[in-house]
Amino acid sequence: MHFDKIVDLHCHMLPGIDDGSPNLETSLELAKKAVLDGVTHILLTPHHLDNRYVNHKFDVIKKTESFQQALDKCKIPLQVFPGQEVHINGDLSERYPDLLGTDIDTRYMLLELPHSNVPMYTEKIIFELQKLGITPIIVHPERNKEIQSNLNILYNFIQKGALAQITATSYVGGFGENVADISQKLVENRLVQVVASDTHALKGRDFVLREALESIGDDFGPKVAMKFEKNAEDILNGNNVIASGYSKIREKKRFFFF
Ligand SMILES: [Fe+2]
Repeated sequence: MHFDKIVDLHCHMLPGIDDGSPNLETSLELAKKAVLDGVTHILLTPHHLDNRYVNHKFDVIKKTESFQQALDKCKIPLQVFPGQEVHINGDLSERYPDLLGTDIDTRYMLLELPHSNVPMYTEKIIFELQKLGITPIIVHPERNKEIQSNLNILYNFIQKGALAQITATSYVGGFGENVADISQKLVENRLVQVVASDTHALKGRDFVLREALESIGDDFGPKVAMKFEKNAEDILNGNNVIASGYSKIREKKRFFFF
């Protein structure tokens, strides 16, 4: 498969501000790997408002500008944009002035749930963000323990108007067979609309975003993979992306023998 552009919507490449790249040197190495993988545009999305990190909107904008200058100086052909991976909080809508979307008008925003569970107020927060004109994109649902045990929790959020992003490493098996199976099932049922790298500083590992797109193409046809890539472009540009053709995941029927 050939991609003219590859947009990565989720990446911890900004140096020294979260659990991603520790320094500029590593960031530039990661950027070179991204380019080798065919990635052309990256939304830089440091953690925001989780238990460990606060990365204010204007700090991220400034740091993204200086990282772009470093890329240009090293002649690395990559365009970067400021974003945040926003952790769910009960008062998120009040924090709107300090939130960065995936696009300049904040039509979309990456929303992170805890790893272990789905907070009771998630649906309420989705609704409140929608009232502010934001479509939340739930990041890596395939890695959330509660969603793993009931994929239709995600179906409910998609039905309420959210979107979802799977992680490339999940799809290609980097987090084990179970997470890969779940990722495939989510794509099969069109419960996720986009795939992104969620790159941290990966020791000895290359970018796998193109590999994940190609695997999606192998499993479901090139049109589906192209649509995933196009959705990433549209989300970065703030264009319309809606979840379509999605379906509830059928539970395996259990037979009881007495
Ligand atoms: Fe992330």
